[in-house]
Amino acid sequence: MNASILYNEKLSPGYYRMGIRWPARSVLPGQFVMLRVCEGLDPLLRRPFGVYDVLGSGGPGPEGGFSGEGIDLVYRVVGRGTAIMSEKSAGEPVDVLGPLGSGFPAPDDPSRAVLVAGGMGVVPLHLFARTLAGAALLFGTRSAREAAVAGAFSRDLGLGRLDIVTEDGSSGRKGLVTDLLGEVLSPGSVVYACGPPAMLKAVARAAADGRVRCYVSLERTMACGIGVCLGCAVRTSGARHGLKTYSMVCSDGPVFDAGDIDWELF
Ligand code: FES
Repeated sequence: MNASILYNEKLSPGYYRMGIRWPARSVLPGQFVMLRVCEGLDPLLRRPFGVYDVLGSGGPGPEGGFSGEGIDLVYRVVGRGTAIMSEKSAGEPVDVLGPLGSGFPAPDDPSRAVLVAGGMGVVPLHLFARTLAGAALLFGTRSAREAAVAGAFSRDLGLGRLDIVTEDGSSGRKGLVTDLLGEVLSPGSVVYACGPPAMLKAVARAAADGRVRCYVSLERTMACGIGVCLGCAVRTSGARHGLKTYSMVCSDGPVFDAGDIDWELF
């Protein structure tokens, strides 16, 4: 165990925010960490978590990474590991591996960035948004309960636009976040998306139709997080090298050019 919990707050039923004291690491927006909250064998494996924020960091360094006293994670309870995690208290130890994976490539003009988040896909996009003055964030969730994590956006990120869309209309607009893309995208936009597979497919299609650049941050079940177990393979389209092949989300991603993914098999 190489780090300790600073706080572990409930945001809404099933959603939590955990601060971890873990100093002197430079985290690129889009990178993730693998976390283990127990010393014993149950649960054995670490779990991947996108980094929501870096604590005590005034802004990115010359290479684009954020350094500070620790990391801020926002997570949803989805199984035994995260249920155990939700019961942890300040001062308890945790084991953090990372930061891992690739970050989001910066756009030439931050104000042309369009961030599209589905549910907990908002987590890695939050840290990225700190570098994107004037950008648009479209945040889609199922209901107001999930939209509560957007409360953490109340701090001024300098966004040019923030739209919340819920499927049941209980917060913000009613519909799907992809419904808004048509009114936001224009030549020169650069899209960055993270969320469920169906949303990512729709965003990638809309970006391709609009001929705008699109990067997606993919989520996969991960065991090792470092490209060894091959458990997080994703089929790539061969758009760059001509051959359909596989990439590892943990070590080749999690951020990919949307044109590099084979969306038919995603
Ligand atoms: Fe093991 Fe990606 S999690 S290769």
